[in-house]
Amino acid sequence: MYTEEIKRRRTFAIISHPDAGKTTLTEKLLLFGGAIQTAGAVKSNKIKKSTASDFMEIEKQRGISVATSVMNFEYNGKKINLLDTPGHKDFAEDVYRTLTAVDSVIIVVDCVKGVEEQTEKLMEVCRMRKTPVIVFINKLDREGRRPFELLDEIEDKLCIKVRPLSWPISMGSSFKGVYNIYNKSLNLFRPGGASIAEDVLAVDTISDRLLDERLGEYAFQLREDIALIEGVYEPFDRQRYLDADLAPVFFGSAVNNFGVKELLTTFTDIAPPPRSRLADTRVIHPDEKSFSGFVFKIHANLDPKHRDRIAFLRICSGKFERNKFFHHVRLGKDLKFRSPASFLAQEKSIIEEAYPGDVIGLYDTGNFKIGDTLTEGEKIMFQGIPSFSPEVFKEVINTDPMRSKQLEKGLLQLTDEGVAQLFIQQQGKRRIVGTVGELQFDVIQYRLLHEYGASCRFSPLNFSKACWITSHDPKKLEKFCEYRSSKLGEDKYGNPVFFSESDWELQRIRTDYPDIEFHFSSEINTGAPGLKEGIG
Ligand code: G4P
Repeated sequence: MYTEEIKRRRTFAIISHPDAGKTTLTEKLLLFGGAIQTAGAVKSNKIKKSTASDFMEIEKQRGISVATSVMNFEYNGKKINLLDTPGHKDFAEDVYRTLTAVDSVIIVVDCVKGVEEQTEKLMEVCRMRKTPVIVFINKLDREGRRPFELLDEIEDKLCIKVRPLSWPISMGSSFKGVYNIYNKSLNLFRPGGASIAEDVLAVDTISDRLLDERLGEYAFQLREDIALIEGVYEPFDRQRYLDADLAPVFFGSAVNNFGVKELLTTFTDIAPPPRSRLADTRVIHPDEKSFSGFVFKIHANLDPKHRDRIAFLRICSGKFERNKFFHHVRLGKDLKFRSPASFLAQEKSIIEEAYPGDVIGLYDTGNFKIGDTLTEGEKIMFQGIPSFSPEVFKEVINTDPMRSKQLEKGLLQLTDEGVAQLFIQQQGKRRIVGTVGELQFDVIQYRLLHEYGASCRFSPLNFSKACWITSHDPKKLEKFCEYRSSKLGEDKYGNPVFFSESDWELQRIRTDYPDIEFHFSSEINTGAPGLKEGIG
């Protein structure tokens, strides 16, 4: 029973560059899963305004995204957990960390625009963690780029081999439908999402006469394309997909609800159940009886009337039960949870138990920070939860010296929540906040004032990257730190960090100091430079 529960879970995220169709696809998947009944029930968590004065509005929109943070539904006997990710690039760190909590990913690519910047960055994280990915090429109802060209671009920019499992028959105004290579069927397109059962036809082989009857002149092109695919791409090998060596590709149109069911059915067939995870002392397998899980995201509500904080916990092994004591490893104390929540569209509901692969929301009064582990007593810390090098840096100027302690406390707690990263320079005298976008500075300033009564302003710095530095030769590292002291600081765990002003400068320094290693990511709960894969 317990093993069955684990085996039937599929925990994944949909990622894309904004506007490729992630929200639309999410909604269609939920409709198929019966989790929602009408289109429009899933609010886009795309943040529409991004000027400084609008950040409260942004938080309101983010509030909506909490409700839709983890959506679950049943399909084909599987329990699907779909983790939502914010669309705004200033929240990219949130997305990176959500990726540590999933077992696989669906990437949406717009067939007109091809692979875009944000998708490339997100894929880097998937590659690092060896997360299996499926690609959905969307918007085939538009005149897009040639399918073979798109596949080449995916291989090239996302650095992964691809294998089409469905194939489009023309596109744009003459889009006819897709041929499902995986289960040999023809799915005919009707604009407006009005597909009917007769539109899906089983096909014996690609030379089936039915194709000529239904597709006319387009059947010839389809046969040529399929012959080329079979010649160029190796047969689909599920193991290679699970090893993250190969990405199966589907084509469709999310807004027209076309190709989505095929994607979902194949996904439930091939996607991995909960995978093992690497902790500092050993690999944790999902079917171990003893409970373990980690916090990958904390959401704080800025609305003073509902100042609740929710810590999102991914269960890695064992069974979670409401009102049972679990061990908080970092704090060394036992905690129990009265109202652990699961989320569905706009609704939250209290759950009694949860299994590996599930994500639950724990109401928190300040016990948790990102990367924290809960167990039944074992002292482990999950690895591979990243802090990435921020891109915007500002010095914190305290504008109310009477409240220095509060400022210090606020900065530490907000950075524990993952809002930003804190660096320290000049023997503790200079505090630097690093983020991936401007938006976080407004959020921090507002929260410092309203939650900690501390006020500050931010003074921009000319840095564009912070790298954690190590060396096999401690003397060389020491020398480097001495010589470059104006560009050196520490993260909040005391690990040395080098600030560079440009890629060019960093490149030069790396050439000049071959014995120093520069890392663009670190472990969030220790600051240890570099990143473990996180999955055993
Ligand atoms: P995102 O979450 O990845 O940012 O994208 P989202 O689903 O919000 O989709 C972005 C836009 O692309 C939306 O249009 C959506 O309707 C459209 N779209 C999604 N799938 C398809 C498709 O298969 N074909 C076409 N032609 N368009 C598609 P919008 O005008 O920005 O919003 P809306 O007013 O339609 O909601």
